[in-house]
Amino acid sequence: MDGTAFITLNRPQALNAYNVKMRDELYEVLGAIKDDPEVAVVILKGAGEKAFCAGADLTEFLTAPVPVSARKARFERDIWGRFLSIDKPLIAALHGYVLGSGIEIALCCDIRLASEDTRFGMPETGLGIIPAAGGSQTLPRTIGIAPALDILITGRWLDAAEAYRLKLVNRVVPHQDLLPEAEKLAEKIKSHPQTAVRFAKQAVTRGLDLTLKEGLKLEEALAGRLKS
Ligand code: COA
Repeated sequence: MDGTAFITLNRPQALNAYNVKMRDELYEVLGAIKDDPEVAVVILKGAGEKAFCAGADLTEFLTAPVPVSARKARFERDIWGRFLSIDKPLIAALHGYVLGSGIEIALCCDIRLASEDTRFGMPETGLGIIPAAGGSQTLPRTIGIAPALDILITGRWLDAAEAYRLKLVNRVVPHQDLLPEAEKLAEKIKSHPQTAVRFAKQAVTRGLDLTLKEGLKLEEALAGRLKS
């Protein structure tokens, strides 16, 4: 599809569990997308019927020399920074299991669509770890402190309807409509002047870390650049 880049988490035999290789490839591909003038919108999805991503690869995590080394390896590439550096809209098309890193990747996207079969959870604390790809920061910023703490501390799972109620996802659609809906959304976004789209994203995402006064200045500066 012209102007739409698809990123597929593609280890369906392991429910697309996020391993170091996937992290490295995601880092590279996000860099390529950022620099590619042909790409206007990005859709992230998971291969196979069962999952978008079932979290960090537990086999890799448990077989690493010590868990600390595994965690360190994950920090060496700043995936979160790479996501943040992309001013093009990112759409997450979620289905099946969306656990741990799966939620964290989805939270790095701008719009989240979920199919009705999606189940979300942050099982990290039960495994003696905490999220390390931004989840402890992005989840409360997205759904608020109280529900984020509940999900992070208890590790309880959510179905798609609750995820929608909590505003973790923007929309829930029947499974067969997930990709067509994501593509429709991408087409809609592409029909707008792209600089305006990117500035609107920047105004929101950069503005979140600013005071209201600074944020209003940022908005004014971006609006001014659009007019000139
Ligand atoms: N890391 C590595 N492999 C994983 C994985 C993970 N996080 N999640 C699933 N897999 C693998 C399974 O080991 C299994 O491999 P196998 O066929 O070689 O035995 C395959 O994916 C299918 O998973 P399975 O457990 O058989 O599917 P299920 O439908 O019965 O259960 C889950 C699905 C998601 C409930 C279950 O796989 C699970 O609890 N996974 C771990 C989730 C987790 O704790 N993630 C870490 C978050 S920090």
